[in-house]
Amino acid sequence: MKQFLKDLILEAGKISLDYKARLSSLTVNRKSLKDLVTEADVAVEEFLVKQIKSRFPEHAVWGEETGSHAGGRYRWVIDPIDGTTSFVHEFPFYSVSIALEEEGKPILAAVYGPVLNELFMAEKGKGATLNNKPIHVSSRSVLSDCMLATGFACVRVDAKENNLPYFNKLLPLIRDIRRAGSAALDLSYVACGRFDGYWEMCLKPFDIAAGVLIVAEAGGIVTDFAGGTAGLPRQIIAANPAVHPQLLNLLKAST
Ligand code: IPD
Ligand code: CA
Ligand code: CA
Repeated sequence: MKQFLKDLILEAGKISLDYKARLSSLTVNRKSLKDLVTEADVAVEEFLVKQIKSRFPEHAVWGEETGSHAGGRYRWVIDPIDGTTSFVHEFPFYSVSIALEEEGKPILAAVYGPVLNELFMAEKGKGATLNNKPIHVSSRSVLSDCMLATGFACVRVDAKENNLPYFNKLLPLIRDIRRAGSAALDLSYVACGRFDGYWEMCLKPFDIAAGVLIVAEAGGIVTDFAGGTAGLPRQIIAANPAVHPQLLNLLKAST
């Protein structure tokens, strides 16, 4: 299953790069004012669904662009291009994200950043890797030494929750921040220690399905702003075990 997922996501990434090479001629539609979907999003997802369904016809699939495809106890959760805004603007930080759940719990995950050719994978109980090498969250604990990531629900113009108060609160306390535009990559970068922590609001299950397992298997902690998991993916905090309680305190106090 792991080798299948690896081959599958690398091929999907290659397809996205082929589309990226002719970006100016791609059809870009709007799901809403700022929420874009390109031909590439649809083509990558159709490829993934077809491959999964032909190899595992009894498995369910849930993709951002094509919805639910019925099946049994296993379900593949797909975000064909996480970071479509980055993709459209030729900003290199977008990814393909795939998680495999067994009875609703993630057991296998992959996030692939095609431009940098970086493949993050995790298997429940077996750790996380970047390009086949084991990864671990960072060990920084002092917030003023930490680089965090976040995101803003720019694409969801009707979102009720606003990240700016949290951003204003945290930014003065930390070393620096990045907003690269792919939640799946943000989580994967927490897993390999590039980011010491990450928070965001108003996400969808397919944004984080794979990244959450990758962080957990790399020794990190993922919760909502109340410290549980019931509020995911509406609220998410992912960080190393020293930073997570500090972010939780700061974000909890503001809610
Ligand atoms: C988006 C990315 C981004 C996050 C947005 C998501 P999409 O996913 O994960 O980092 O801030 O809220 O919608 O729409 O590009 O698949
Ligand atoms: Ca997404
Ligand atoms: Ca997407």
